[in-house]
Amino acid sequence: MITHDQLLPSLYQIQRQRRIGEITICALNLQILETLAASPTLCRAFRGHSFRPFADHYAEMIAAMPPRNIVVVAVPDQLHYEVIMTALRHDQHVLAVKPLVLQHSQAVEIAGEAHRRGLAIGIDYHKRFDDRSLMARRDYRQGLFGEFRLGSACLLEKWYYRHSNFQNWMTLENSDAFTYIGCHYVDLVHFITGLLPTAVSVYGIPDTFPNGREGYLWTDARVIWSNGACLNVQNALGFPDAAPGGNTQGLVMYSKGGDTGGLVFHSDQYRGLKYCYVSGAYTEPSPDYFQYVDIGGGGLTPVGYGYRSVERIIANCIKVEEAGSLEARQRMLKQIDDEGIVATPANSSYNELVVEAGRASILSGGRLVEIQYP
Ligand SMILES: NC(=O)c1ccc[n+]([C@@H]2O[C@H](COP(=O)([O-])OP(=O)(O)OC[C@H]3O[C@@H](n4cnc5c(N)ncnc54)[C@H](O)[C@@H]3O)[C@@H](O)[C@H]2O)c1
Repeated sequence: MITHDQLLPSLYQIQRQRRIGEITICALNLQILETLAASPTLCRAFRGHSFRPFADHYAEMIAAMPPRNIVVVAVPDQLHYEVIMTALRHDQHVLAVKPLVLQHSQAVEIAGEAHRRGLAIGIDYHKRFDDRSLMARRDYRQGLFGEFRLGSACLLEKWYYRHSNFQNWMTLENSDAFTYIGCHYVDLVHFITGLLPTAVSVYGIPDTFPNGREGYLWTDARVIWSNGACLNVQNALGFPDAAPGGNTQGLVMYSKGGDTGGLVFHSDQYRGLKYCYVSGAYTEPSPDYFQYVDIGGGGLTPVGYGYRSVERIIANCIKVEEAGSLEARQRMLKQIDDEGIVATPANSSYNELVVEAGRASILSGGRLVEIQYP
């Protein structure tokens, strides 16, 4: 899904700019790749662009790549670790979808291996590249909102997600709605405020996928932060299919400064557009995440923070590669980590601590689990 909706079109655009070369894609079977290659959206936007399909084991594909190219990891959450480590061991830079991995120790290991080899890793927390997130971060860090105290966030995907491949992997033992999608807003609160999460409790409601497997399809999480602030995060595969927009999502943060209050209110789903098509369909599309527009030059151009996030991560990989010697690449990696704009294993592994604490909590009925920083 994410390969079709965001990653591949972004990579095609960067290829169109002649900043990357050939693309090979590996999946479990050729049929998935044929469907992807024949996507009417991609064919219309990127005439003349294609990828080489590969349906054998991903490790073979990575082993055959010349060193210091880029591996993009977009497999189910519980497989990220092994694919990323395989890529690093073959000296490849990495773009990984979120959540990077499911255990903090794995994030630390990945950070160490990447540093040792002078390889860039960027995690696609694409909400960071929504201009509103960057505005809130800029203003928060100037003190304009005071100090975050209490907030709520939600991200509920459409009901029809239950009928997709999610039913094969987002099951009770692997993941849950909070782990899958709640991490975006936990990451964003850190990105805006610089605060760190210190305790998590997640109450999950098991529900049945169409194939009969069970998943925590509804979750309610409470995240406590290093200054005592509290964020409530609700997630589900439960937003009605008939409701407008691709999902519902948003963030509200109340804060205090001196004797007055501050507020950040982001409606991340309703962005001011109401479209009613003559087919009878009504929708409230987001112009901000990922759209194709005709700005001339043939085909369509992807725009939005989904594209910008991929572009920044690939740009970092290229920048690190061009730095040259191992020492120069390591200096560049440190600079990227310290800058804190692109999420890296070294600067965002609090997300893995939250995932681990969240899983421990959900499996024990929602008890509060404290986060121990190593
Ligand atoms: N908003 C977001 O940031 C966002 C949105 C969607 C998905 N994601 C993340 O992207 C990842 C993939 O999600 P998706 O929705 O695209 O899932 P998906 O099920 O549509 O795609 C997963 C792909 O992985 C491939 N795959 C699985 N096991 C493999 C293996 N062993 N070797 C090679 N290929 C393998 C499958 O063939 C499939 O094409 C997940 O980690 C998910 O959390 C992030």
